Amino acid sequence: MLEVHGLTMRFPNGKLALADFDLTVGAGELVGVLGGNGSGKTTLLRCITRMLTPTAGEAWFNGVNLVPLSGERLRQARLSLAMIWQHAALVRRRSVVANVASGALGRHGGLWTAFGGLPMSECRAAYRYLDQVGLADLAGQRAGTLSGGQAQRVAIARALAQRPKVLLADEPVASLDPEAAHDIMRLLRHLSKNENIAVLCVLHQVDLAYEYADRVVGIRDGRMAFDRPMHDLPRDAVRQLYLNEAA
Ligand SMILES: Nc1ncnc2c1ncn2[C@@H]1O[C@H](COP(=O)(O)OP(=O)(O)OP(=O)(O)O)[C@@H](O)[C@H]1O
Ligand SMILES: [Mg+2]
Repeated sequence: MLEVHGLTMRFPNGKLALADFDLTVGAGELVGVLGGNGSGKTTLLRCITRMLTPTAGEAWFNGVNLVPLSGERLRQARLSLAMIWQHAALVRRRSVVANVASGALGRHGGLWTAFGGLPMSECRAAYRYLDQVGLADLAGQRAGTLSGGQAQRVAIARALAQRPKVLLADEPVASLDPEAAHDIMRLLRHLSKNENIAVLCVLHQVDLAYEYADRVVGIRDGRMAFDRPMHDLPRDAVRQLYLNEAA
């Protein structure tokens, strides 16, 4: 589904943030990415979505390498890749459901005001996605009034409106309390299994990776430190791998 080969990013200041990185994430698979601050996790995600242009390497999705693409072809190829950030980045003065519906914009193009410009089917779908993340009752509320956990759910619903095949999440639970963090991870796992979405999720909590990921990838100084399926690892082994090799 998503295949990364030799992905390398050297920033103009000379910093090598990602070095010859290989990674595969299958449909329906949830892969956790563990690594210390500054190890290159966000750079990896930004190179995959082509928010950054990597210095070298390939990022294949559905038989298309995104790295050399630009313009309309890049926009089209990107439609199936959704991002979720540590902070939900919702439009605060808009309603929850309008924020969710905005995820469908890329598929329709053009400008958007309120619901204008989006077909009714997308507006109805937005309510469905909200229901899926358990927030149907907050549809009309202004996004700026939500709690952090609720806002993150709305961000996930917005990503779903994009109808992604790949979901890239950069520390989606970093600012949430433990209960909300488990809720979000459960939801991401549910989406990977039930919607067959490939999920790549940066985490700082070994326990969450252990509980929800199918595989865990460690990154250190921009390089792959380990790539292991979860089922053959006891929890302490994951912690040790993280402490010894990734942190
Ligand atoms: N635009 C840039 N120019 C120069 N260096 C950069 C740039 N963006 C990131 N870096 C550097 O690349 C390295 C990797 O950064 P990145 O943001 O990918 O780390 P991270 O693993 O996501 O860290 P954190 O856990 O703190 O979010 C860091 O040393 C960072 O300072
Ligand atoms: Mg980061």
